[in-house]
Parts: sequence; structure tokens; C-alpha cells
Amino acid sequence: MRLQTQAIPQIVGKIKHSLRNLRLIRTPTSDSKSLDFNTDPVTLLLIDDQIIIGEAVSRILANEADIAVHYLNDPTQAIQKAISIKPTVIFLDMVMPEIDGLMLLRWFRSHPVTHDIPIVMLSGKEEPKLKADAFAEGANDYLIKLPDAVELIARIRYHSKAYSNLKTLTLTTNKAQQQARQLENTLQELQNTQAQLIQTAKMSSLGRMVAGLAHELNNPINFIQGNLSPLNSYVQSLLNLIELYQQEYPDSTLAIQDKTTEINLDFIIDDLPRILSSMKIGSDRIREIVLSLRNFSRLDQAEKKAVNIHEGIESTLLILSHRLKQGIEINRQYGDLPLIECYPAQLNQVFMNILSNAIDALLEQKAQTQKQIIIQTETISFHQVRVAIRDNGPGIASEIQSKIFDPFFTTKAVNKGTGLGLAISYQIIENHHGNIHLTSRTESGTEFAIEIPIALAS
Ligand SMILES: Nc1ncnc2c1ncn2[C@@H]1O[C@H](COP(=O)(O)OP(=O)(O)OP(=O)(O)O)[C@@H](O)[C@H]1O
Ligand SMILES: [Mg+2]
Repeated sequence: MRLQTQAIPQIVGKIKHSLRNLRLIRTPTSDSKSLDFNTDPVTLLLIDDQIIIGEAVSRILANEADIAVHYLNDPTQAIQKAISIKPTVIFLDMVMPEIDGLMLLRWFRSHPVTHDIPIVMLSGKEEPKLKADAFAEGANDYLIKLPDAVELIARIRYHSKAYSNLKTLTLTTNKAQQQARQLENTLQELQNTQAQLIQTAKMSSLGRMVAGLAHELNNPINFIQGNLSPLNSYVQSLLNLIELYQQEYPDSTLAIQDKTTEINLDFIIDDLPRILSSMKIGSDRIREIVLSLRNFSRLDQAEKKAVNIHEGIESTLLILSHRLKQGIEINRQYGDLPLIECYPAQLNQVFMNILSNAIDALLEQKAQTQKQIIIQTETISFHQVRVAIRDNGPGIASEIQSKIFDPFFTTKAVNKGTGLGLAISYQIIENHHGNIHLTSRTESGTEFAIEIPIALAS
């Protein structure tokens, strides 16, 4: 994952677009006039077994050009018909021989297509109990057959308009919700990008510093190592020469005898090879460190590569060794891992972040027990490996466990933590098509387990 700053203008563009869209959405309450002049056509579905009612209603509405009437005297077809014509209002007879009007009302209300369509119940008589039942089942109105033409038309238009308004409102709300979601996603993206930029800058400056240090150390150590072998042979020759002198001139002069005693020649002869050999060990160690530092920075390997990730862990531990020396024991439980195809510098960042957090947690802890970090690696399937880093620190309280991967979440003091380490680690592991899993208890410490594929699909 390499982060480019050009991502920012793109995201800012997205935010502006989302905001523009939000401004374009007008809520009905902010512009109620547009609803009053709603001129959507009206579609009435009339369901009544008495054909005479159908005829009467059709006659009343004959001159209303914007009202389309669909009459049905067979209530068994009602649902199917309503789904196909999508009426803006339904007039439904309460009492029919084949299906009870209330039952049909219930069906309309339970079907997603007809759920919100206004339903006006038609009845032959004024009966409060029947009315109450109808309203309880979701009826919008109740009419005694048949009201005056003016009232009938007014009610049809009123309910139809209310339905149109409801649809507009639902549409607007959905659109606004969608825009809000979009904006939220864009903001999240922006926050992630910002977090990545900061962390990338932090890690790449650490990487550059480490690479620079390795480079600077490399020359003098080559110099020392290159000279150690001739030095060794010169010293050996000189020692041989002294030995020869001693054999050839056993009775040396008094001055030579005094000097031999003064400088403790026997001890020098004995100690010199030991000094040389420890210098060799020391310079070999510096060489190893230089190699490790180079391995960590891997500035030359920003691309995908098959690597031994134990080396990455080891070089990270080496960089952290001054902190580990403050009383933290490292327990390596390394399994037999194949080479892992990955972005090595990025994986090293993850090890660095998790190990640094574990060290922070352990050093902060006052407990007397031996502070310990266990690093366990294993191959868990043909195509996956697992790296678990566990500490016996104070653990992470369950209330904050869901937040620790959020960018900028930190419990550390200002200037101590930016809250980016885990957020960025999460993204790196996601980038490697793996997952990172936290297990933490305040009584036993914290474990971060990473599972990544052995071969990384491009
Ligand atoms: N091993 C751990 N033990 C206890 N708490 C931890 C451990 N690892 C992470 N945390 C908690 O998770 C928080 C977030 O960690 P993260 O690495 O993302 O940020 P940070 O360490 O606070 O800052 P940064 O890594 O950017 O310097 C930490 O502040 C800490 O509260
Ligand atoms: Mg951290």
C-alpha cells in the first residue's frame, strides 16, 4: 500500500459533490407549496360486489379527466389488480359475499406494494364498532355509500394527494439518507487517507533514518573487518618472532629482562589472541546489525517479494532492543514457515507497531511479574500463516477494544501516541488479504494475531 497525496483532491471532490447533492435535496416541509400544486394523476381502484355502485362512481367521475377509475366487482382479484395498476387510492366495500372487506384490507396492508396506498372503506351503514375495526386494521377513511359527488371527488383527490406527498417524502428521505451515508463514507475515507499519510511519513522517515544509519556504519565496519585478518596474522608473526628470540637468546640483557617483566610479556602473549578474537566477534555483530537495519528499512524493496518473515521480526526486535532491555523478556516460539510473498517493509511496520504497543503497555505496568512478549508463528493451512504477538501487560479494557483500530484513537499522553499504529496495521494486513484479531483481558494481557496468505494474489 503506497499512499499518494493525489488521493486527497479526489476525496475532497467527492465530499463537495456529496454536499452539493445534499443541498439539492429539498425536504417537503421546507417547500410545502410544491406539494399543494401536486398534479399527479389520480388512479382509483374501486372494489365492490354491487355493480350498481361501480356504475354510479364511474358516472360521477366521468368528467374528471385526471382521475382514472378501475372497477372490480370480484374481490378475489383485488390484490393482483392493485399490484398491476398501482392505484393512488383504493375504495373498498366492507361487506362482500366472497371476501370480507376487513380481511382484504389486512392483505393490502401486509403487501409491500399496497402497504401505503390510502384505503377508504365503503359501508352501507353507520356503525361505530365497524368503523373502529376498519381504522384499527389501517383504513384511512370510512364512507357511507354513496356520498354526494362533490364530497366523493374531494375525498378521492385528498387521499391521492396525501399518497403522492408520502411517496415524495419517502423518496426524498431515502435520497437524503443515501447522501448522508455517502458523505460519511467519504469522510471516513479522508480520515483513513490522512492517517495513512501521517503514518507513512512517520515510517518512511524512520526507514530512511535506519537505512542512512546502516549505510554510515557499513563503511567503517568494512574497514575494521578488512583489517582484522592481516592484523591477526601480523600479531601472530610478531609473537612467533618473540618466541624465536627467546629460544635463540635465552640469556638476554638485563634491560630486556626488566622490560619483559614490566610489560608482563607472558600475559600479553596469552591475551593478545583473545583480544583479537573478541574484536572479530564484535565486528561480526556490528555487521549483522547493519544487515538487520537494512532488512528493516527495505527501502529497496517497496515491491512484492517472497521473504522469511522471521527475519523481519528479528530486525524489528533489534531496532527495539534498547527498550526491551528495560526488563522485557522475548519468548520466540517460531514455527516452520515458508517464504511469504508480501510487501516486506509494510509487514515490518505492522510488527513494529504491535511490538511497540506491547512494550509501551509492559513498561507502563507496575506489576512485579516478569514482563514478557511471546512471539508465536505457525503455518495454519496450505496457504496461510499466523503470527501472534502476546504480552502479559495490563490488557485492553473491553469498552475500548472496538475503538483501538480507529485512526487517531489513543490512550497515550499527547506527544506519546498518535493513535495511528493499529489503524495503519489493520490496513496493511487488509492489503495483504489477511486479518488481524485482538484478544485481550485486563487480567492476562493482550494478543494480536495476524493471519496472512503465503502467496499474495495481485
Ligand atoms: N498491547 C497493548 N496493551 C494495551 N493496550 C494496547 C496494546 N496495543 C494497543 N493498545 C491500546 O490501543 C491504543 C491504540 O494503539 P495504536 O498503536 O493505534 O496507537 P498508539 O500506540 O496510541 O499511538 P501510535 O502507535 O500512533 O504512536 C493504544 O493507545 C492503547 O490504548
Ligand atoms: Mg502504537
